[in-house]
Amino acid sequence: MNKNTHPNFPDLKNKRILITGASSGIGKGMARVLANAGCLLVLHYNSNNDGIKQTLESVLKLGIEAEVLKCDFSNLEKVQDFFTNAWQIYDGLDGLVNNAGVITKSLSLEDFIATQFNKTLAVNLQAPYLLSVAFASNCKKIGQKGVVVNNSSVHGQASCEWFAAYAASKAGLDAMTKVHAVEWGKFGVRVNALSPGVVPVERTFDILHKPEMIEKWLGAISVGKYGTVEDMGMATAYLLSDATKWMTGSILTIDGGLISRGNYPYR
Ligand SMILES: NC(=O)c1ccc[n+]([C@@H]2O[C@H](COP(=O)([O-])OP(=O)(O)OC[C@H]3O[C@@H](n4cnc5c(N)ncnc54)[C@H](OP(=O)(O)O)[C@@H]3O)[C@@H](O)[C@H]2O)c1
Repeated sequence: MNKNTHPNFPDLKNKRILITGASSGIGKGMARVLANAGCLLVLHYNSNNDGIKQTLESVLKLGIEAEVLKCDFSNLEKVQDFFTNAWQIYDGLDGLVNNAGVITKSLSLEDFIATQFNKTLAVNLQAPYLLSVAFASNCKKIGQKGVVVNNSSVHGQASCEWFAAYAASKAGLDAMTKVHAVEWGKFGVRVNALSPGVVPVERTFDILHKPEMIEKWLGAISVGKYGTVEDMGMATAYLLSDATKWMTGSILTIDGGLISRGNYPYR
């Protein structure tokens, strides 16, 4: 139990949510917003021990319960056991946020045996598939409603050179979102995706704030600003909450107007 509620999302109080990839960037922002809304959190990470410690400390300070679980999703055989452990922490889960991802940048002609391609598909698409299926199957078994939020990318809709693996994984996630929504709506599991544009995170902060990058990106983003991890957290809370109880199978583009222009800039 905890003291927090969010005025916009009061129904999220005490909801049990698994966030994958919570050790940095957008996952960290999601964790903070959901903690402020009073959720009980299972925070997943892979390798960033310091990052997940920071996320955990920041949400515990907000007075909620949270637990940490580690798993490398490139090893798909581990994913089901990971989910079973996550489900058991609070004796069930109300929501699954598939946020973990690898942002692979590689030229296809330099990835002949598809090493980067296969790893990207495993982490960004196959692991979310396994987690989603395990989650929906448990919800169905016990007759409980549930919500899945898949963190996709505008690269699923419009991309550029270097991103064959990443764009394929995100376009696949968008397609999977729609099919799972169709399959699972009848027993009360909603599935939606976020499609973010450019959000500076620890990994990209310095490069995105170089003068030439600011000129290029902020010139292309209609609102003239990068997104923040809190923007992404708020959109996640919205999709998890009853505010969107009639919404499923949607891909929510959240990019400051970047791809509406139709000229995704070259990297
Ligand atoms: N930032 C953006 O501009 C942007 C835009 C569109 C979409 N996205 C999407 O947002 C999500 C989060 O990205 P981010 O920008 O916040 O990047 P990030 O800070 O690099 O976070 C990536 C997260 O994924 C986890 N992860 C990476 N490889 C993994 C693996 N093999 N197994 C399990 N977990 C793994 C990382 O865990 P460890 O660090 O602990 O290994 C980390 O927690 C991704 O799905 C990304 O595609 C980001």
